[in-house]
Amino acid sequence: MIFSLNQSNFTIPRCSSKITDHRRSSPSKSFVLPPVSTPKINRFFVISSSKPLHVSSIQTLGSMHSLEHDDRRVTSCKAYEADRSAGELVVEKIEAAKRAKIGFYFATWWFLNVIFNIYNKKVLNAFPYPWLTSTLSLAAGSVIMLISWATKVADAPNTDLDFWKSLFPVALAHTIGHVAATVSMSKVAVSFTHIIKSGEPAFSVLVSRFILGETFPTSVYLSLVPIIGGCGLAALTELNFNMTGFMGAMISNLAFVFRNIFSKRGMKGKSVSGMNYYACLSMLSLLILTPFAIAVEGPKMWAAGWHNAVYEIGPHFIWWVAAQSIFYHLYNQVSYMSLDEISPLTFSVGNTMKRISVIVSSIIIFHTPVQPINALGAAIAIFGTFLYSQVPHYLF
Ligand code: 3PG
Repeated sequence: MIFSLNQSNFTIPRCSSKITDHRRSSPSKSFVLPPVSTPKINRFFVISSSKPLHVSSIQTLGSMHSLEHDDRRVTSCKAYEADRSAGELVVEKIEAAKRAKIGFYFATWWFLNVIFNIYNKKVLNAFPYPWLTSTLSLAAGSVIMLISWATKVADAPNTDLDFWKSLFPVALAHTIGHVAATVSMSKVAVSFTHIIKSGEPAFSVLVSRFILGETFPTSVYLSLVPIIGGCGLAALTELNFNMTGFMGAMISNLAFVFRNIFSKRGMKGKSVSGMNYYACLSMLSLLILTPFAIAVEGPKMWAAGWHNAVYEIGPHFIWWVAAQSIFYHLYNQVSYMSLDEISPLTFSVGNTMKRISVIVSSIIIFHTPVQPINALGAAIAIFGTFLYSQVPHYLF
């Protein structure tokens, strides 16, 4: 039996049977060796190693050679420095592959999100019916996933009634957040919607504090100051400010906070993959949204609007609609798949970085006029979101 203790300075008080890895702060992270039946030792026994240390056998700790030096009994245990073993190289390779995989997920997620935002805005400029475009995004995802399950490209999830019941509040919040963000983007610049959406952590803390009664360390509350201040400054100095656009982004923030809370509760103990979870979410959201979209906008308005858009843009307008719908599903699917691989903390850092790429690329592509004070507000808000994500997650 070989134990490998990497790069740790550790102390065995009185040849204690408990060895703690000091790189980890949590007491629960220590590991316990089997009881040792060594003769009584009167001294602390310190082993310092900067290289991997292999204890040849835990059992032998119990039958170590005991030597008498004067009146002290010193226990020596056989240990040797290992060269960088093949095992370590394998571990390093696995770590590197994991990092590459997460990097790939992030790059894909941001890229798909930027493409979605560009086509979504192009469509909304020509065809200002956000309730229909939101419905089409969910429909595209539902169709893609149904085909994937039917053709066995992806395994269909094993769900029961309880799963769908627990998914309902998540889907309701997802629907509200999605349609509100799309309404926002139909009224204001994409960059402005995303600047306001970077304030989502502030909503998360306020909802948890005032509705769920949770408390947070002061550092969390302090990180909200630049988020709220930056969003406020950006909103006050936005050249094309529109109240519906602003409120849409704010409602989307609130709805997504509830979606995250319900989703955390609903998914406890369930074993549906991130990809399939998002697929089921899309389908249920589609069922919820369709009647409302018909009631708010309706086929008559859509037909007239479609006619105008095709007249102005040309027949390829349909490809813009297809692109915004498909890319919406793909970026969400990749983001849920990456959630399977990373911690919520890493996810929230990724989401903040995503907003920066969307804001910058949309300003360039749509030639959005930006005043320096407006850009400063956006930068402060984004920086605040980054600070928020840096607060140790175990505090939450
Ligand atoms: C939507 O339409 O659902 C929103 O634009 C999504 O916003 P987010 O994924 O960037 O939070």
